[in-house]
Amino acid sequence: MSMPAHDQSPQITKIREHIGAEVTGIDLSQPVDEETRQRLYDALVDNIALVIRDQNFTAAQFQAAGELFGELMEDQNRRYLAPGVPMVSILSNHHKDSQGKQAKVANSATWHTDHTNQALPPKFTSLYPVALPDRGGGTALCNMRAAYEALPDDLRQRIDGMQTANTLISSARTDTANPDIVQDQQEADGGPMIHPLVRTHPERGTKAIWFHQGKTERILDMEPGETQEFLAALLEVAMRPEFTYTHEYRLGDMLILDNRSAMHKAGFDYDHSQHRMLYRLLVRGERPF
Ligand code: SIN
Repeated sequence: MSMPAHDQSPQITKIREHIGAEVTGIDLSQPVDEETRQRLYDALVDNIALVIRDQNFTAAQFQAAGELFGELMEDQNRRYLAPGVPMVSILSNHHKDSQGKQAKVANSATWHTDHTNQALPPKFTSLYPVALPDRGGGTALCNMRAAYEALPDDLRQRIDGMQTANTLISSARTDTANPDIVQDQQEADGGPMIHPLVRTHPERGTKAIWFHQGKTERILDMEPGETQEFLAALLEVAMRPEFTYTHEYRLGDMLILDNRSAMHKAGFDYDHSQHRMLYRLLVRGERPF
């Protein structure tokens, strides 16, 4: 039997001019009517990221809240899942790798968008904190469509049409990566996944710079080392402070971002003896073009 929708009318307020909106006055563990669901969806795509405040989720409730935004997809790393909740993975600075050592998470410490080694990378990523350090440990976000539009014309024309070859972990990063992920890469079937470096938003038609620095083996027609230097230099030019926002979490925040317009990066500016643990879920996306 379906539950009646509660009368929920969230307030949506911009956080920064170019990125982010805060949502208050809604409890996503309760039924949400179609009009409100669509309002949240549109606000997410328009603002690139939403911070939905004051939630109180179990992992299963977080998974159900994610389903309001689309069909969920599995995290490709199946090692750290919320027990019994297959679409919710756990990001924690206290994870151990298979050798019993503190698992390295260097991959997410670089600017990236998720799962670019897959044909259909997630359109949305959502994060929900379960344990937080006293300070720091936020998630930095950047509006990559504004970044693309503000590029000098010659650079914008140069990157239009470039393609990236994506793997689980690029050979330039294996030294600093979690050895389990390096092993997964060695055992992976198939060649690299080719994607555009500049992708078009399928719902808005806007273009955005789009890549995962740690998964880009190379830009086609460039060597891996040159590729890493090129991508780092591109970010240097493209990312202006006004396009970025670092979300410093409060317990109860559901952060959700549109990966087709944003890149993100985990903050490592905290006391690592303290626990930082987030639930993460991914909403299935389209083939980038
Ligand atoms: C991620 O890269 O998806 C997680 C970001 C974070 O841990 O802040």
